[in-house]
Amino acid sequence: MEIHSHSEADTQEAAQALAKKIKAGDVLALHGDLGMGKSVFARALIRALIEKPDEEVPSPTFTLVQTYDSAQGPLYHFDCYRIEDPEEIYELGWEEALESGIIILEWPSRIAGILPTRRLDITLAPLHNNPEHRLITINRVE
Ligand SMILES: Nc1ncnc2c1ncn2[C@@H]1O[C@H](COP(=O)(O)OP(=O)(O)OP(=O)(O)O)[C@@H](O)[C@H]1O
Ligand SMILES: [Mg+2]
Repeated sequence: MEIHSHSEADTQEAAQALAKKIKAGDVLALHGDLGMGKSVFARALIRALIEKPDEEVPSPTFTLVQTYDSAQGPLYHFDCYRIEDPEEIYELGWEEALESGIIILEWPSRIAGILPTRRLDITLAPLHNNPEHRLITINRVE
């Protein structure tokens, strides 16, 4: 599925629509370069999944993972940007997350070798040479 986003609000809307289709066990990998909107997308998705539109959703840039409670079970938001060795993710509760919850992952390329093959790939890319436009591609890989 492809979505043309023309604003941050469009990207948030796309995330909210996707949230309705997410269930326990889903792994969502957010691809895209710096500043493409992965965290914007993740934040809107998390707020929709935990049904708290005003919840503060800090970026896990330094903590590497933040956890939430959703109606579908625990929700894990990982940011792998600072991971140097993919094995580091095991120290962050990765296996427990895979077993019990929903995973949202920024910078999945950092742990490419251990990324589950069954996942949802979400890619944010530039569009129309416009700094506010994004092509959002969502693909379920089984
Ligand atoms: N259509 C759009 N969708 C999402 N964000 C947009 C859009 N247009 C402009 N922006 C802006 O782009 C920025 C995206 O920042 P964000 O932190 O979400 O990026 P990121 O992909 O997580 O980057 P990083 O890899 O550095 O963490 C925000 O400042 C946002 O306002
Ligand atoms: Mg980010």
